[in-house]
Amino acid sequence: MKIAIPKEIRPGEHRVALDPESCKKLIAAGIEIALESGAGAQAYFPDTAYEAVGVTVMPDAPALLGGADFVVKVQSPTLRSDGTYEVDLLKPGTLLLASLFPTRNLDSVKHLVERRITAFSTDCIPRTTRAQAMDTLSSQANITGYKGVLMGAMELPKYYPMFMTAAGTTLPAKVFVIGAGVAGLQAIATAKRLGASVTATDVRPEVKEQIESVGGKYVGIELQQSAQAGGGYATELSAEDKARQARMLADHCATVDVVITTALIGGVFAPKLIDEAIVRSMKPGSVIVDLGAEGGGNCTLSQPGATVVVGGVKILAPLNIPSTVPFHASMLFSRNLLNFLMAFWNKDAQRFDLDWEDDILKGCTVTHDGKVLHGPTQKALQS
Ligand code: NAI
Repeated sequence: MKIAIPKEIRPGEHRVALDPESCKKLIAAGIEIALESGAGAQAYFPDTAYEAVGVTVMPDAPALLGGADFVVKVQSPTLRSDGTYEVDLLKPGTLLLASLFPTRNLDSVKHLVERRITAFSTDCIPRTTRAQAMDTLSSQANITGYKGVLMGAMELPKYYPMFMTAAGTTLPAKVFVIGAGVAGLQAIATAKRLGASVTATDVRPEVKEQIESVGGKYVGIELQQSAQAGGGYATELSAEDKARQARMLADHCATVDVVITTALIGGVFAPKLIDEAIVRSMKPGSVIVDLGAEGGGNCTLSQPGATVVVGGVKILAPLNIPSTVPFHASMLFSRNLLNFLMAFWNKDAQRFDLDWEDDILKGCTVTHDGKVLHGPTQKALQS
């Protein structure tokens, strides 16, 4: 069994799918691993660190991918600079494990189907206790929450903490976090550690206690209709609840210095929660960090990948934040992949035992044998 680690080619992607430490464990289990030269360089894992644990370093992607049984990647496959598609370099029937975000990358899915690739997407793994250690959404969202707070601090014309100095006392900045899942809870904890006064909201009721446990103060409305979709995911609010939440957000945003938004529906799409009227009600100099940018943005004025200023309020909508912390992001992503691979590797028989009735494989298999198996992706392709 040969696993291949190609260099990521999407712009701005600095992570690598497997680090040398995880490769060492896979090699000890009898798996051969090959790496495209330089694949780990931007995450500060040089070729020599892979060679030291027994990985074969190959000069380029065509040489690497054509001989692979199983390819591991961070991002979904895409077009290469020479005009060929990454997927077209794979043998039909190759296994692929990556964070595909298939409903956002339908073009990539179509190529996987045509090439008859069996593709597993880590962001579609069901949220069960057994799968927790394979969950790249959580490991990467934690980084997003942390770094998002730092990005807000860099743009704010104030300190986060309170300082008592001979020249006078500065009051702590007020940070408001919208959406308190993995990214939101890390944002609350990070802002709190930096000395800000932190409030937060969410639509899942169990979250109030979690917000308080990391040092935030909960603000919210009582929903008339549940927004729980199971598995930790939220659904869209009813029209009535949406209107009540919008009033609460308008009142509260006007009182704070930094708003950090992390809200997602079904873990994929960002509901629009902050409109232009709310932005214009905020104090000039305030900052919005829209961490929902990848899913379209929680603020109607956000321009994913750019910063805009409206009424003196800076609106940041950064993309792919985990890639800005590439060493730790790769290390954690890699452990998620290692846990997935080891769960299905049969060391005695030296093969992957893929039980199609297994709940993890059922949830995360996007394409197999020329078909799309993932329900939401099938739906997205039809619409
Ligand atoms: P997510 O990324 O899907 O959404 C982020 C947050 O936005 C969620 O807390 C959601 O409730 C909130 N949200 C949605 N619409 C909103 C609105 N209109 N206003 C305010 N907030 C809104 O969620 P994430 O971070 O991936 O996970 C949520 C929970 O799922 C976690 O707290 C965790 O307990 C659980 N989880 C469990 C896993 C497992 O057991 N394997 C793995 C990952 C998460």
